[in-house]
Formats: sequence, structure tokens, C-alpha cells
Amino acid sequence: MSKTKPLSLLFISGPNLQLLGRREPEVYGHDTLDDLYARAKARAAERGAALEARQTNHEGTIVDWIGEAPGTFDGILINPGAYTHTSIAIHDAIAGVALPTIEVHLSNVHAREAFRRHSAVAPACLGVIMGLRGDGYVLAVDAMLNHLERHAKR
Ligand code: DQA
Repeated sequence: MSKTKPLSLLFISGPNLQLLGRREPEVYGHDTLDDLYARAKARAAERGAALEARQTNHEGTIVDWIGEAPGTFDGILINPGAYTHTSIAIHDAIAGVALPTIEVHLSNVHAREAFRRHSAVAPACLGVIMGLRGDGYVLAVDAMLNHLERHAKR
């Protein structure tokens, strides 16, 4: 019987998300990033998948992590924080590696300031989950595993 390698996901959170828990709780909720990542990892484990959770405040580090992902990870989940609205470099990294990627936001960016309504990153992504606070981190895991189980050449 052939043994299939477990699916492996990379979850990247961008700038200022290390402040969750004390950062504008009326917008982002009271959970810390560790809380959200613990829930996402638990969900991945329930489905027999691995999840590596990272955070950085640096755009170039995000670009590096995406570029290095093929071969190690099957899919990427990313909350690019404020880089969502500006980063052609993150868009191009995602498009360049051609790994399925889901953009995640805790808040509903369309219900906030006008400058948050544009995503430079979303056109390179499979889909976007937003406005559901921490639940979005878990839903993104399910959505990506559903996608990979249906479509990935393994
Ligand atoms: C965010 C939304 C962005 O506009 C903001 O800059 C963030 C967090 C979210 O998760 O709702 O840092 O990505």
C-alpha cells in the first residue's frame, strides 16, 4: 500500500499581527496570534495535515518565505496585514510560485477605511476570507485542505 505524504500548509501573518489581543480589540477581537495559530494548527492536525505558523513585520521576509515554500509546503495561507493594500512584491511572489494561496483578514476590510478596500495581493490568490475574526484562520485551513484534496497532483 502506498503511503501518501501528509499535506503541509504555511500560514504567514504580516505586520502588526504580533500585537493581536491588545491591538484595537473592537476591530480584531481579543485573541492573540498564538491563540489563532493554535486553533488553525489543531484544525490542520484533525485533518491529518501539518501547519507551520509564522509572523513577520517585514515585506521582504514574506517574499522570501513564499519563494522558498515550493517543495516544503502544498499551500499558503496569508494575512498580509497592511501590505495587502500595497505589495506588488507579495502579489508577484504568490503568482511566481504558483502554490494555491488564500488571503485572510480578521476584519471586513470593505466595511472600513477606503484605502483598505483595494488588495494588491488578492488577484494572485485562490480566494479571500475576511471579517470573521479568528474563525477565518480556521476556515482558511479547511478551505485550503478541501482544495488540495480535490485538486492537488500528489
Ligand atoms: C488586516 C486588515 C488590514 O487592513 C490591516 O492593515 C491589518 C489587519 C485584517 O486582518 O483585518 O493589519 O489584514
